[in-house]
Amino acid sequence: ALEDNGSQRSAKKCTPQSDPNGMVNILLKLEELFGQAIEQAFPDVKGFQVVVVPTTPNFGDYQFNGAMSLSKLLRTLGKSLNPREVAGVIKESVPSNSVIDTLELAGPGYINIRLKASFVQEQLGLLLTRGVRPPCGVEKKRVIVDFSSPNIAKEMHVGHLRSTIIGDSICRLLEFLGHDVVRMNHVGDWGTQFGMLLAHLEDRFPNFAEETPPIGDLQSFYKESKIRFDSDADFKKRAYACVVKLQSHDPVYIKGWQAICDVSRREFQKIYDRLDIKIKERGESFYQDLMKKTVALLEEAGVLKEDDGRKVMFAPGIAVPLTIVKSDGGYTYDTSDMAAIRQRIHDEKADWVIYVVDLGQAGHFETIFACAEVAGWLDRKKTRVEHVGFGVVLGEDKKKFKSRSSETVRLVDLLDEGLRRAKEKLIEKERDKILTPEELESAQNAVAYGCVKYSDLAHNRNGDYVFSFDKMLEDKGNTAVYLLYAYTRIRSIARTANITDEQIKKAVADGIPLGHEKEMKLAKLLLRFPETIVRLTVDLFLHPLCEYLYEVSTVFTEFYDVCYCVEKDRTTGQIVHINMDRMALCEATANVMAQCFSLLGLKTVQKM
Ligand code: ARG
Repeated sequence: ALEDNGSQRSAKKCTPQSDPNGMVNILLKLEELFGQAIEQAFPDVKGFQVVVVPTTPNFGDYQFNGAMSLSKLLRTLGKSLNPREVAGVIKESVPSNSVIDTLELAGPGYINIRLKASFVQEQLGLLLTRGVRPPCGVEKKRVIVDFSSPNIAKEMHVGHLRSTIIGDSICRLLEFLGHDVVRMNHVGDWGTQFGMLLAHLEDRFPNFAEETPPIGDLQSFYKESKIRFDSDADFKKRAYACVVKLQSHDPVYIKGWQAICDVSRREFQKIYDRLDIKIKERGESFYQDLMKKTVALLEEAGVLKEDDGRKVMFAPGIAVPLTIVKSDGGYTYDTSDMAAIRQRIHDEKADWVIYVVDLGQAGHFETIFACAEVAGWLDRKKTRVEHVGFGVVLGEDKKKFKSRSSETVRLVDLLDEGLRRAKEKLIEKERDKILTPEELESAQNAVAYGCVKYSDLAHNRNGDYVFSFDKMLEDKGNTAVYLLYAYTRIRSIARTANITDEQIKKAVADGIPLGHEKEMKLAKLLLRFPETIVRLTVDLFLHPLCEYLYEVSTVFTEFYDVCYCVEKDRTTGQIVHINMDRMALCEATANVMAQCFSLLGLKTVQKM
């Protein structure tokens, strides 16, 4: 049978048996139905069950648009049917089902699909009674996500912040979908920079092997040792000797190395705690012994070439080789990544390895993946490996991001500024008059860290990204502040009306009619949550999730503006009527939004 390259969605047939509690992925369900229709109408071809969400609701809730390419293919098989005829045949072949209300031929060969109201009502009911669940039909994978990965003793900079935010959100998404996720911090904790740090440690804290050296500020410690390294030949010699001692595992130098790593680790941890990031550290040092083995395996396979004393490895079609062994016999960043990819596939049995690292390293990863294939360690049909890159962070002047006083921006200072500005914003809106001091503090944290994360995630990660507190703290448009407000407002509607879970359940049991056009529109959008998040796994772009979240909040506003949920007496302000069906819709909206926030790593507050 002939096949097109088909849908890339990694989802199996969605059956209630395989995943009884999952939400239905409607897009996938429709593709299944059209797949069956095509199989029945044109048994010689497979695929083409392309279903999309049309740009305007005039073309239906969903639209089938595979008839054009199918018609072309059929012509090569000697069947001459124009796209509209093909669409006509498919339309008649769609098996009977409980999802589709009407199918309508449109344009040169589209089929507009409208959902049955009863299906939407039923699915909304499940959403309310079971909560927002992952979609059914997702094939479980073991995934290693390599992210954050700062370098010991050097500054954790805004680039690492981007990796941390994007990587964490990818982990949250994959965890929610039910995958087995390992969050891995590939810290730069091994390498020649430790020579000068250890030599400096010998002088500053000669007692370092017996007593934990009070290094204090590692940044200045690094700078001091770098100055000495660059200006003092004797010191330089000693630094090299220290590297040799460290690499031969001299226990004294291992202790010193550990002490230096510990100081860095504590600094990194502060950032992770503030941003609520969970990650397991497994730095370059973990791969020391494996690197030897890696080199031996590559030697054996005969894929290393001599180059001016170095040993390098070329990948087909890529000009720049990896440096596997330096001329002094030392290993490199490349060596550790070759060791790591083998270990992750071979020992960790990963089905999917994701590297969240700035785009500047795209070439590095392309070469690592290609060389791993050459070595026979990676079969891309079995294991998915990918570099999730991102652009650089720019200041508001569109130049390299710097603080006013120095070259680099310390992340702690940046987050402190975020907190300060968030508080200013809340006080400007007089929230301090309404909220308790505790509530104000929670709101401040949610806004500060939320805006830093959201403004990063809402941009296409491939672009450079302008860091601007003014922009990210705006309360209009697609910003964290706007969305967090919108969310708390929905929660407060239920609070003023004193709604209980029982009342919502009863409304569901009685059936939610969705009689108003705006109610139906909102309900259908909420049911697109599963397909939206499954789509994210195709290319690991997260901004479509932010767009979806923003759309939910605007469509909610459209609904809320015209559909009274709680009616109050104009003069007394007393509640005279509560529309429980609409309250249920508010509840469902808030729940879907909360799940989106959670996937993006944003904390919500009940009051703001
Ligand atoms: N430490 C590196 C850096 O700061 C990033 C490491 C990324 N992960 C990896 N497996 N190479 O540039």
